[in-house]
Amino acid sequence: MNGQRVNIGIIGLGTVGVGVARILLQQGDLLKTRSTLTFHLKTIAELDWNKDRNLDLSNVKCTDNAYDVLDDPEINIVVETIGGYEPAFSFIKRALENRKHVVTANKALIATRGRELFQIARENGVDILFEASVGGGIPIIKGLREGLIANKIESIYGILNGTCNYILTKMHKDSVEFEDALKGAQENGFAEADPSLDINGTDTAHKLTILGSLASNSIVSFDKIYVEGITGISKLDINFAKTFGYTIKLLAIYRVFNGGVDIRVHPTLVSDSHLLSAVSNEMNAIFVTGDFVGNTVFYGPGAGERPTASAIVGDIVDLSRDLLLKEGQKYCNRTINPTADVKIIPIEEVTNRFYLRFFTLDKPGVLAKISGILADYKISISSMVQLETHERDNYVPIVLLTHEASEKYMEQALQKIMQFEFVKENFLRLRIF
Ligand SMILES: NC(=O)c1ccc[n+]([C@@H]2O[C@H](COP(=O)([O-])OP(=O)(O)OC[C@H]3O[C@@H](n4cnc5c(N)ncnc54)[C@H](OP(=O)(O)O)[C@@H]3O)[C@@H](O)[C@H]2O)c1
Repeated sequence: MNGQRVNIGIIGLGTVGVGVARILLQQGDLLKTRSTLTFHLKTIAELDWNKDRNLDLSNVKCTDNAYDVLDDPEINIVVETIGGYEPAFSFIKRALENRKHVVTANKALIATRGRELFQIARENGVDILFEASVGGGIPIIKGLREGLIANKIESIYGILNGTCNYILTKMHKDSVEFEDALKGAQENGFAEADPSLDINGTDTAHKLTILGSLASNSIVSFDKIYVEGITGISKLDINFAKTFGYTIKLLAIYRVFNGGVDIRVHPTLVSDSHLLSAVSNEMNAIFVTGDFVGNTVFYGPGAGERPTASAIVGDIVDLSRDLLLKEGQKYCNRTINPTADVKIIPIEEVTNRFYLRFFTLDKPGVLAKISGILADYKISISSMVQLETHERDNYVPIVLLTHEASEKYMEQALQKIMQFEFVKENFLRLRIF
């Protein structure tokens, strides 16, 4: 480091990169007052320099070659904001091997290749921080890593995807179908042109992998997480949930359970009396329970240029404090232990309360047969609604809420129920929180 000056290089001047550059260029005095350090945005690597980004880059070296950042011995901290797997992985690896700290917002990469990157960081005595990868501007990672360090984390329930939350909120408040809500989200800039990774739950699972790894101080394997998206939810289900006093949310769930962790992503009925049910539109929230602190809630904007950049610059300042220390005093590797793995309990071994919605022929004895099968599998019903109107063909919807029941038995019972000729194929099974 050059005196009290920290040199920063950004790779990728898209939505997030622009925000980071803006803060570094505009908030220099504020950052200096609060940290005593001068943050100098030295170089930006970006492929497309034709876009107007409304930034004064006259004192910044602008290049299209990422290695002008990665191999510059004067650069202390590299900000990776290109996203994706490659070349992002190779760029971060090179930066760490060149003994530069790295800050990234790349949840997909951290969730799937974090182990390798943390190991490389450890071997080189530097850190990789990723506050912006979960919950945008919400300081949840710092919260888990530092604020709640004295606690064993017992559970995390998170609304981590703004696109899904926006869609589900519109369906709930405006009583529209999924496709119309998605279209509205795209028109209002809350969903990508290709929203697949959001609506199929993958993005939430990436973020949950990161939170679960921090909570357990071990690696959570992304591919072992049970994931369901929100595409099967209809206006009808939203309205039924409302009738029973619930709001449907896409929840990321982490729970210490049976000597391991129960970790999953799926649409969930959240009681209207729970704080998470009130988290609307594109906002994110994370409900964390620690053994000493009890229940805590982290709430805020989960994406966007300014919130995400705010989180990235928080990491930059955090890392810069290390740069002031001498070799041997450095507080590196504040991330996840890459050599430890957490035991993930398969979903079949978990119990839940369930919401079941079937379309059945409107004839006597149907309900008795369904509840008979459920009883055979030790599943008891807590509430039930059967609409009398003929909604679709001759089929009417039946909705059952159950008491706590085994996931394995539920799966087996559903297979039996679906064999009845009076049940239509498109049933829905949701969990209740
Ligand atoms: N957007 C958000 O609100 C948000 C929130 C949280 C986390 N994140 C994460 O932040 C990361 C960046 O997201 P974003 O929305 O800012 O993406 P973006 O708008 O697509 O920006 C990426 C930028 O990187 C540039 N780029 C691609 N390859 C490059 C290379 N080899 N060298 C230099 N520049 C390169 C792209 O240029 P071209 O356009 O010319 O390809 C583009 O300008 C992703 O990992 C994302 O998951 C984003």
